[in-house]
Amino acid sequence: MLFLETPSNPLTEVGDVRALAAIARARGIPLVVDNCFCTPALQRPLELGADIVVHSATKYLDGQGRVLGGAVLGSHKYVAETLQPVVRYCGPTLSAFNARVLAKGLETLSVRMARHSENALAVARWLEARPEVERVRYPWLESHPQHALARAQQRAGGAVLAFDLKGADDAARKAAAWRVVDGCRLLSITANLGDVKSTITHPASTTHGRMPIDARREAGIGEGMLRVAVGLEDPADVCADLARGLAG
Ligand SMILES: Cc1ncc(COP(=O)(O)O)c(C=O)c1O
Repeated sequence: MLFLETPSNPLTEVGDVRALAAIARARGIPLVVDNCFCTPALQRPLELGADIVVHSATKYLDGQGRVLGGAVLGSHKYVAETLQPVVRYCGPTLSAFNARVLAKGLETLSVRMARHSENALAVARWLEARPEVERVRYPWLESHPQHALARAQQRAGGAVLAFDLKGADDAARKAAAWRVVDGCRLLSITANLGDVKSTITHPASTTHGRMPIDARREAGIGEGMLRVAVGLEDPADVCADLARGLAG
């Protein structure tokens, strides 16, 4: 199979779903898309040619930090013949309570994702103007290398952005990143994302901490990079919180 996250975690790289679907089709293999960051409110990979879509429903499908869950979507044939037998006999089924919570979460999905995107763009633009920041990665910024592609296949940018801090070397960049994290009072320090509350993560020491440093560097995940999943607060409050650490 071809498997991709788009936008990717934490770099927000955008994969061309239509082009990858054509490559996969030509080779007779399925294209699987992790649609966590966008959710179906902002991006519909099956309509773009993907065969299977996966979600950590723990993230924006719930969107309120309440339950763990997941979703796998595809054609009726795939669901009936491939997915359902595994789900039925191997047991990865939702509890009734989690299913109910997720169903309630879906009722507000499109409204939440629109506001997450609006807030994230405001925070991304504010970060881009800060002298301590080397680079901001967010698909809805004109400076994003795949901005045009993102606009062609997404309805908005989503909640997640990443930014790199300036510093003379890895140690200085890491110290700067940790200072920002330590300065936060409003943002939750957690490797999770997909909550009403904004969350901040240092990928190099958490989500991607087990990658060898060379592989991490090659992927572009630097010691001075921070990922923010922008929540539904007033974005001015999020910026004020980040400013505390940046100023330090
Ligand atoms: C894009 C993406 N996919 C999948 C996951 C994994 O989620 P889970 O642990 O709920 O399977 C994450 C977690 O951060 C993620 O960001």
